[in-house]
Amino acid sequence: MKTFFNVEDIGDLNLALQEAAQVKKTPFAWKHLGTDKTIMLVFFNSSLRTRLSSQKAALNLGMNPIVLNIGQDSWKLETRMGVVMDGDKSEHLREAIPVMASYCDILGIRSFAALTDREYDYGETVLREFIQYGGKPVISLESATVHPCQAFADLITINEYKKKSRPKVVMSWAPHPKALPQAVPNSFAQWMNAADVDFVITHPEGYELDPRFAGNARVEYDQMKALEGADFVYAKNWSCPGVKDPSAYGQILSKDMGWTIDDAHMAVTDNAYFLHCLPVRRNMIVSDSVIDSDRSLVIPEAANRVVSAQVVMKRMLEDMLK
Ligand code: CP
Repeated sequence: MKTFFNVEDIGDLNLALQEAAQVKKTPFAWKHLGTDKTIMLVFFNSSLRTRLSSQKAALNLGMNPIVLNIGQDSWKLETRMGVVMDGDKSEHLREAIPVMASYCDILGIRSFAALTDREYDYGETVLREFIQYGGKPVISLESATVHPCQAFADLITINEYKKKSRPKVVMSWAPHPKALPQAVPNSFAQWMNAADVDFVITHPEGYELDPRFAGNARVEYDQMKALEGADFVYAKNWSCPGVKDPSAYGQILSKDMGWTIDDAHMAVTDNAYFLHCLPVRRNMIVSDSVIDSDRSLVIPEAANRVVSAQVVMKRMLEDMLK
């Protein structure tokens, strides 16, 4: 595996889930793979889970993780080509990428969408530059349009807790005070479309996800109707993806608190489990009563971030031996 970006990169999902179960059971069984290997985890944006779970996964595999916070630990980096660098950015990504790559065997990149230029974001410009100029395997640790380590961990969690062979999984938009990227819902949709689940997306008008991620998933604009009989409720906010109206890209179109997942929403489900990638705004995205209930899986879901990252890194290390 040279890149981890889209669901196709992981191959057969059933095999990946079996491998995840093995890694979870015996996390230190592949420690030899990472001996004398280094992974560089480059963060342009804040993180708790991704930073820590990626480091833990690397350590489980015997690798040395190096974490770099761009702009805090490093020079501020210019990411756009052809600009006159007369501002506060002292170094260009064009030099920084090959330098960072020369110090490691695998690169992990967190680089959120700025939500100002849809073409730039949906082109995954920064991630592609790391792939092109780094020459090393690259993992998206949430880039402009995708968060595959999260979606893989979500699938692992659903697989562990499902009671039906084909559970109903509903991803519901929920309100948030800030404009957030679409990476998490994009990846969740992409992975659920590839998995053996009955997948439904619900959101207010205008929040339609890019078709390359929404695929053929059923979209139901009536949230309560969508939630009926659900086995898993996946709540997430996202800003306007700009599919119907490109000029609205990145904007907040609704702050309707009626979409907050609370007891009334959960009551129409089939005693569903609640999922969220975290961090979560309590009583905006989800009520205290739901996230604190015994149906909430947010902690085991976050714990599975180590497992998903470790499967990906393990496969990259195994490929280096071929
Ligand atoms: N879910 C997730 O990626 O969390 P962090 O932003 O804290 O890494």
